[in-house]
Amino acid sequence: MSETNNNINGVESGERVIEESNGSLNLDGGFVVPGMNAFGLSFRDYEKESERKASVEDFYRTNHINQTYNFAKKKKEEYGKLNRMEMSIWECCELLNEFIDESDPDLDEPQIEHLLQTAEAIRRDYPDEDWLHLTALIHGKVLLHPSFGGEPQWCVVGDTFPLGCAFDPSIVHHQYFEENPDDRNPAYRTRIGIYSDGCGLDNVTMSWGHDEYMYLVMKENKTTLPPEAHFIVRFHSFYAMHRAGAYKYLMNEEIRRCSSGSMCSTNMICIAKAR
Ligand SMILES: [Fe+2]
Repeated sequence: MSETNNNINGVESGERVIEESNGSLNLDGGFVVPGMNAFGLSFRDYEKESERKASVEDFYRTNHINQTYNFAKKKKEEYGKLNRMEMSIWECCELLNEFIDESDPDLDEPQIEHLLQTAEAIRRDYPDEDWLHLTALIHGKVLLHPSFGGEPQWCVVGDTFPLGCAFDPSIVHHQYFEENPDDRNPAYRTRIGIYSDGCGLDNVTMSWGHDEYMYLVMKENKTTLPPEAHFIVRFHSFYAMHRAGAYKYLMNEEIRRCSSGSMCSTNMICIAKAR
């Protein structure tokens, strides 16, 4: 077991990360991050040599240069109108059959297989939580499909992160943020940026992608899924939070729920959903 300290742009977050011998991470804020996903595989390893390593790095370079606060706000406004297409959940799942996630160094299955495996694994682990099975199934990656705008992969998939404040060093391929215009904007480049301590993730603009899109679809369609489902869908690609406990200073209600226990399992489920 080893311990490390997180560092947020030179400011200590105060969060200890304890690596257990089984590969799991125990963040002293209460999150326990499993070393394996629901299929017994380790989570994305960006350091491991693989055929896709170079293309994944190239993906994140494009993503980190172009995901700015103004870009994400505009996309949210545009897609928040939900005027693209109307279809059932299953029709939507079938549309994903032709896409492979370019941000994932390990996964080269069509997305429909991935989301069915995820939902089934969650059903195995939580057989009585039917809302969770559906939550694990639904995915906004249809943004890649021409019917939904045919967006490029860099603004649909991959890890998400807050915009309007400093980019945390724990974000994968952090070095490419040097080329992001927001990194040179004095209003956005400080730890707190345009936010206030404890403002809540609801008030934070995240990088644009399928998490936020699916959340908008759920919200505007007045889903009856519980608030935990909203959190999972909206933040399941927020790996800097899941894996490193970063940006906790932006959280409020989420922290309280974590200390009561429910949020801890939700956090783990975000990771089990993993993409
Ligand atoms: Fe996803």
